[in-house]
Amino acid sequence: MSREVVENCIEVAMQAPIGGNVEVRRWVVVTDQGLKDQIAAHYRTAADPYLDETFEDAYKRGDQQKLRVVASAKFLAANFERVPVFVIPCIEPGIDFSDSISAVADFASVLPGVWNFQLALRARGLGTTLTTLHLYEERAVGDLLGIPASVSQICLLPVAYTVGRNFKPAKRVDARKVTYWNSWPTTK
Ligand SMILES: Cc1cc2nc3c(=O)[nH]c(=O)nc-3n(C[C@H](O)[C@H](O)[C@H](O)COP(=O)(O)O)c2cc1C
Repeated sequence: MSREVVENCIEVAMQAPIGGNVEVRRWVVVTDQGLKDQIAAHYRTAADPYLDETFEDAYKRGDQQKLRVVASAKFLAANFERVPVFVIPCIEPGIDFSDSISAVADFASVLPGVWNFQLALRARGLGTTLTTLHLYEERAVGDLLGIPASVSQICLLPVAYTVGRNFKPAKRVDARKVTYWNSWPTTK
């Protein structure tokens, strides 16, 4: 994957709005195999127990859709280092979790750009999924990449060319069931 295509997608990402128009977004792109191997190991440390627990629960409930999602997440975890490029969107200065309103605004200043980035990838034949599980190992990953403790990592986007383009709408809850006009419903 060329550096140029990743940079083009980050350019598109940077068109998304940010609170107060103060630029706080930073993008750490990892292509070095040695670093990816170590980050993948940290990802699995966090993801494996979480996904096993989620899988067990879905299995007990016979929730087929969830089982498919977990199987796909487990495949990603097992193959994480094989993904050619990792992109870690960050925010500088880091998030002040003691101020919940500003913490929300901080996430909201980065995530629209992340979504722009994801759409830009899709338009170029690439794909990703937003992952957050590595954040359980945020400091260890930050140390590997020289990310200062004063910076917060928001997520990790493993980026690759997709195999085929056979995409279809996801199965989701009917939008009308969760859209409330003028007042919150008294019964559901
Ligand atoms: C905030 C957020 C965090 C997520 N974290 C992870 C993650 O750590 N690992 C993973 O494999 N998928 C992660 N996902 C992907 C979701 O599991 C996935 O989008 C969801 O199951 C729906 O599947 P779909 O996007 O294919 O429709 C995350 C998605 C969101 C929005």
